[in-house]
Amino acid sequence: MTTQTLPQTMTAISHTTYGEADSLASAELQVPTPGPDQVLIRVDAAALNPADVFMMRGRPRMLRLVGGLTRPKVQVRGTDVAGEIVAVGAKVEHWRRGDRVFGEAASGSMAQYATASADRIARIPDGVSATDAAASVMAALAARDGLDAAGMPADTSAEGTRVLIVGASGGIGSFAVQMATAQGAHVTGVTSGRNADAVRALGADAIVDYTRESVTDLPAWFDVIFDNVGAVPMESLHALTTPTGVVLPNSGLDGADGGAMMRVLRANARRYLLRRRYRSFYSGPSTAKLEAIGAGLVSGEITPLIDEVLPLDRGSEAMARVASGHARGKVVLTP
Ligand SMILES: NC(=O)c1ccc[n+]([C@@H]2O[C@H](COP(=O)([O-])OP(=O)(O)OC[C@H]3O[C@@H](n4cnc5c(N)ncnc54)[C@H](OP(=O)(O)O)[C@@H]3O)[C@@H](O)[C@H]2O)c1
Repeated sequence: MTTQTLPQTMTAISHTTYGEADSLASAELQVPTPGPDQVLIRVDAAALNPADVFMMRGRPRMLRLVGGLTRPKVQVRGTDVAGEIVAVGAKVEHWRRGDRVFGEAASGSMAQYATASADRIARIPDGVSATDAAASVMAALAARDGLDAAGMPADTSAEGTRVLIVGASGGIGSFAVQMATAQGAHVTGVTSGRNADAVRALGADAIVDYTRESVTDLPAWFDVIFDNVGAVPMESLHALTTPTGVVLPNSGLDGADGGAMMRVLRANARRYLLRRRYRSFYSGPSTAKLEAIGAGLVSGEITPLIDEVLPLDRGSEAMARVASGHARGKVVLTP
């Protein structure tokens, strides 16, 4: 490992017990040491996701099998990260100190320093801020992977493809609206009225305010339904598809079809037993996929919708905002 002079300790937002956002507190921890295939990043921005909330709560409980049975093994939450490489592991060939990168942190990004696997980061393109880069990791990748899993062609304009995005103002939805629009689709976004203008500004052609209208009253003309919330039964969404249309039940929250695991089980059972057109995907980062997201940021095809940028020491408040389920786009922390 090559290093420059680094502090021994850092400020991080950490927790020692599973719980709500008030279980998180600012602490002075050891700066993590990168493994042979990892780099150490000085964090310039970290973005939060529902996955961080699940790990903070240790729920669904199955997560504790990997996260720690009785208490969190990794005490620092946050995976989305952007910053500068300050040290590289012995086997790392492609990265150098001083490189500006974004991607998935291994040691927790709600901290001044974080490690990351060398193959789970990409260069931040010139002109892209650390805030925008950090905000465009998990949510942007999931939006891309979801639309790809749905079989969206690169240019759908000739086919008049119709896409329904539930949770259009959330992290994934706000990227999916922009990506589907860029692919030429007619996009309907489902959000509350307070976010309607923001979702229209992302490119949505039509809005359903779920607080006033029922999604289930829409015509059965959707080629893709990307559900990031899970409040409406998946069978009701399936009823809104064309004879070849697909539904992506993509929520980790408890909802009309149960929790995350039950939703996946139900989708798969109905897919194979009832021939429903449900699609699932698991989204993970790679340098190539992040580079494609970076190119989208540069071209302007995507711009992250930012709910709030807060200083690191307000990490607990930031996590509470995400845990509320009503963040408008991404919540970002800066040290
Ligand atoms: N498959 C994968 O690999 C993968 C990867 C990442 C995440 N996920 C899952 O994807 C889900 C969504 O993630 P996310 O980052 O987009 O979440 P998020 O940013 O926390 O979503 C928040 C948004 O949801 C909207 N919302 C809440 N209730 C709604 C409703 N009934 N109808 C429509 N919109 C509603 C809110 O809008 P209002 O404030 O207007 O209500 C808010 O803007 C998570 O549950 C996560 O587990 C899956």
